[in-house]
Amino acid sequence: MLLLSKSDLDKAVNMGDIIGAVEEAQRLLGMGHAVNSPIYSLLAEADPAILPEIHGNFQFFSAYVGGDVNAEGIASSASCVHNPTMYGLPYAVGLQLINDMTTGMPLAVMERSRLTELVTPAFSAVGAKYLARKGAETVGIIGCGNQGRTHLQAFNELFDIKSVKAFDVQADVLEKYVTEMGEETGLAIEAAESAEEAIRASDIAEIAINPCKPIVKYDWIKPGALIIALSGFGGELDREDVYGKIDRVVIDSQENLELLKSSGQVEAPVQLAQIVAGKQSGRRDDMEKIVFVHSGMAVNHVAAGHLAYKQAQENAIGTEFEML
Ligand SMILES: NC(=O)c1ccc[n+]([C@@H]2O[C@H](COP(=O)([O-])OP(=O)(O)OC[C@H]3O[C@@H](n4cnc5c(N)ncnc54)[C@H](O)[C@@H]3O)[C@@H](O)[C@H]2O)c1
Repeated sequence: MLLLSKSDLDKAVNMGDIIGAVEEAQRLLGMGHAVNSPIYSLLAEADPAILPEIHGNFQFFSAYVGGDVNAEGIASSASCVHNPTMYGLPYAVGLQLINDMTTGMPLAVMERSRLTELVTPAFSAVGAKYLARKGAETVGIIGCGNQGRTHLQAFNELFDIKSVKAFDVQADVLEKYVTEMGEETGLAIEAAESAEEAIRASDIAEIAINPCKPIVKYDWIKPGALIIALSGFGGELDREDVYGKIDRVVIDSQENLELLKSSGQVEAPVQLAQIVAGKQSGRRDDMEKIVFVHSGMAVNHVAAGHLAYKQAQENAIGTEFEML
């Protein structure tokens, strides 16, 4: 079995690799060649009286991805709100396991926060590939934390970006983002005065805020724009306003699609995997306003984790561990 740390992952894969792996995972899911478990939140239903004072969410996910990947995997993930401020740790921490399909033996175990930092923006970028207007060139980043950084790297892989407007409620975080991401990407990044200013200017706007609050109004979204929200159900949006008027809502998993349909808030939502597999149309015209909402999907992590394992193995990265 191969153990891969955060720095091993950075040596083994780049953003372009991960975008390719996630697109293939979505295509296989849409074709019926992958199985994605719902996200299981262990303590969601527990009696708070039996728990210590926790400020987190303990979850696990599993998936099988067929095709050339042909691997199964399971992940343990905890999102702990005080990690960045009190403990100097990422907000979401955990491990991703990749198992062999024939023997069930673990092939690799890897640090999951870095994997998520790569997989989440890769999923957004795949969404943008199918849903953004042709020639999209202005990007809005709302929330300049970890996801805000890796999302810009991911969009920069697929789009010819002419300008970026970023906004964060923490002025120092925003200033650092503008300087550091400008140097890293070579893109023209401007600090916006508000989320509204950044979204109004953008062909593609991504919202990665923590804590998640309903901030986006329908009128802020320009014709032809794509808004990507990371909370799973669009908690960043004024849902009554946006869902009531938007042309299209695209969502991640089958179970979230069913929940969204049964909420009655959205007319004819679509699952991204169906679009990537060619079973549903992506963007239909240049004026459509589209929202893509997603949360973590195990198929994406398994495909990306499997690729990281293969490339690490080929390049002698990571630590071998004799389990038996
Ligand atoms: N969809 C997924 O698979 C997925 C994966 C990872 C993280 N997330 C979500 O993405 C969000 C961001 O994660 P992160 O790791 O980048 O967090 P982070 O703490 O590194 O960054 C969040 C940033 O948002 C800023 N912010 C908070 N409220 C804001 C507001 N109203 N307007 C503008 N900025 C605001 C904060 O100041 C902070 O800089 C979290 O809510 C997390 O749950 C989703």
